[in-house]
Amino acid sequence: MGKDEQYMNKKSLQVKIGKLTLKNPVMGASGTFGYGVEYKKFFSLGDIGGFVTKGLSIEPRKGNPGPRIKETPCGLINSIGLENIGVDAFLGSVIPQLRDIDTKIIVNIFGTEMEEYVELARRLNKLKRIDGLEMNISCPNVKAGGAEFGKDPLVVQTITRKVRDETDKALIVKLSPMVTSIIDIAISAQRGGADAVSIANTYPAMAIDIKSGAPFLGAKSGGLSGPAIKPVTLKLVYDTYGRIDIPIIGVGGISTVEDIIEYALAGASAVQAGTANFINPCATPQLVKQLDKYLSDAGIQQFKSLIGSAFR
Ligand SMILES: Cc1cc2nc3c(=O)[nH]c(=O)nc-3n(C[C@H](O)[C@H](O)[C@H](O)COP(=O)(O)O)c2cc1C
Repeated sequence: MGKDEQYMNKKSLQVKIGKLTLKNPVMGASGTFGYGVEYKKFFSLGDIGGFVTKGLSIEPRKGNPGPRIKETPCGLINSIGLENIGVDAFLGSVIPQLRDIDTKIIVNIFGTEMEEYVELARRLNKLKRIDGLEMNISCPNVKAGGAEFGKDPLVVQTITRKVRDETDKALIVKLSPMVTSIIDIAISAQRGGADAVSIANTYPAMAIDIKSGAPFLGAKSGGLSGPAIKPVTLKLVYDTYGRIDIPIIGVGGISTVEDIIEYALAGASAVQAGTANFINPCATPQLVKQLDKYLSDAGIQQFKSLIGSAFR
């Protein structure tokens, strides 16, 4: 066993997300990690705790017109518009390329009607190679007049329950930060049978092109991510910890090992790094390595002992 493999498999980094045991708490976040296969050429995917695929819908989607990305101080605004290859292409061409990968694979799913989430869960549940589903509920519920699924606690409970009934895989609900009470939404996800919640998705944002005088992004506005949002999302994790019994996955602006420690202290059992992958495609395995060193330098035996420690 090489030196790197030794720390990758250390028990000190292990965490549990429902029935899933992650070898370490660092995952790649949805929409910034392709379908996983794109990162195979940069590092061994077995070095990280897991990854979440780009959001998948039943039908393929072309997404929004460009420009779709705008850099901002300490972050970026994206308006990809949930472009993806659709579930058939995912099952036919991506899954065969993921067979030999020794890490947890979470498929992010979304739809514009509850039935789409249900159908996706039913079809993906048959696949052994998939370890979990992450529901992106920051999407317009077309049948309910376009309000986001994730904004109404009762809708969140209902849609989570419907998906739960179709899958025995680990079920993660990814919360929108743009809600009146993130605690109420997290409680609803738990009541619906979720194994964990991811906190959180991006924040509505825009940029104006001062030369043309018009919005910069083709879709006019998008979602802000990156280090700029870290303090805001960190507070959402802190506010939610202790109010639910299921684990929290922290997602927002993570780019350093210190960010991971902060999220763990605030109550996150695991983390996802998103925008950081665009700066450095090897960000996630490097964070795992740095986390291992941080813990041993600080004399901390188990990463999980940090979870929620800011409350003690
Ligand atoms: C280009 C881009 C595409 C994204 N696509 C998705 C998506 O398809 N589904 C989803 O749930 N989140 C998506 N996200 C949100 C990220 O998974 C993550 O929640 C957010 O970027 C905050 O983390 P970060 O600051 O580490 O990037 C996307 C983010 C970016 C930057």
